[in-house]
Amino acid sequence: MARRVAFEDIVAVIQSIKEDGGVILTNFSSNEDVERVNADAAPYIQKIVDDCALQSLPRETSRCYRLFGRSRTARESWLQQPAFLEILNHFLRTKTVPYNDNGSTVIETDAILSAAATLDIGPGVKAQDLHRDDFIWQRTHTANGGEGYQMGSDFSMGLLVPGVNTTKANGATLFVPGSHLWDHSRRPKVEDVVAAEMTVGEAFLFLGSTVHAGGANTTSQSRPMHSFFYCRSWMRPEENQHLWWTKDEVQQWSLAAQKQAGYVLDNPFLGHCDETNPVDVVRVDIDSGR
Ligand SMILES: [Fe+2]
Repeated sequence: MARRVAFEDIVAVIQSIKEDGGVILTNFSSNEDVERVNADAAPYIQKIVDDCALQSLPRETSRCYRLFGRSRTARESWLQQPAFLEILNHFLRTKTVPYNDNGSTVIETDAILSAAATLDIGPGVKAQDLHRDDFIWQRTHTANGGEGYQMGSDFSMGLLVPGVNTTKANGATLFVPGSHLWDHSRRPKVEDVVAAEMTVGEAFLFLGSTVHAGGANTTSQSRPMHSFFYCRSWMRPEENQHLWWTKDEVQQWSLAAQKQAGYVLDNPFLGHCDETNPVDVVRVDIDSGR
């Protein structure tokens, strides 16, 4: 069974993730905020559904990409919660002392957004293959020798917030507790796999090394899942997000959200534009000639 821990109990959440690789967070969101994010994604999902119907194509998984920009509630409320950021950065913060600095400078960088989308699993959609999300960075893992979770071994995490109650029948996320400690070659048995069934307001937070999959939807209703993925600050995010968002959009975001999306840098040498923060470039009026 997937464990449930109160979102605000940060110590217990971190411990559960270290032991299982993922945990269901209770009290992650109000029902009203879930409804708001559902409404933010709905028009984009509906357009895909309508297009499929027009072309007589089977309805599969419909995706609302660009969710970080399209949903103010997700961006500014869910993803800026101090408890969420503390847990996320407990696992994904990178801290180093540069070789050339006599130890007087510490570079400490927090996780950045890698991808964000609503995945709307249509009726009849089959289960995904079990996988580890960090395969996109070609990561592999060696077996943990029984000494428990090694801090620093994960480079990415995922946060899934269901738009409706999820059950085995409608495709609740399948999850293999403890698989974040497994060797790359190990495969789960049927009995290793549990369904992270959630009610609205809960969320599933898991490591990039944890084996999981979207379940099969055997019901007649779709199952929307708002999905957010993070990586370490020095990695290439999964989505080429900066090509999507306009200057006007980014200017409306909070500074914290801009930072999370990589527009404000903790590490002054990685990702700069004209030796300044990318957000400064976004704020400049191109027509001014600068
Ligand atoms: Fe995945």
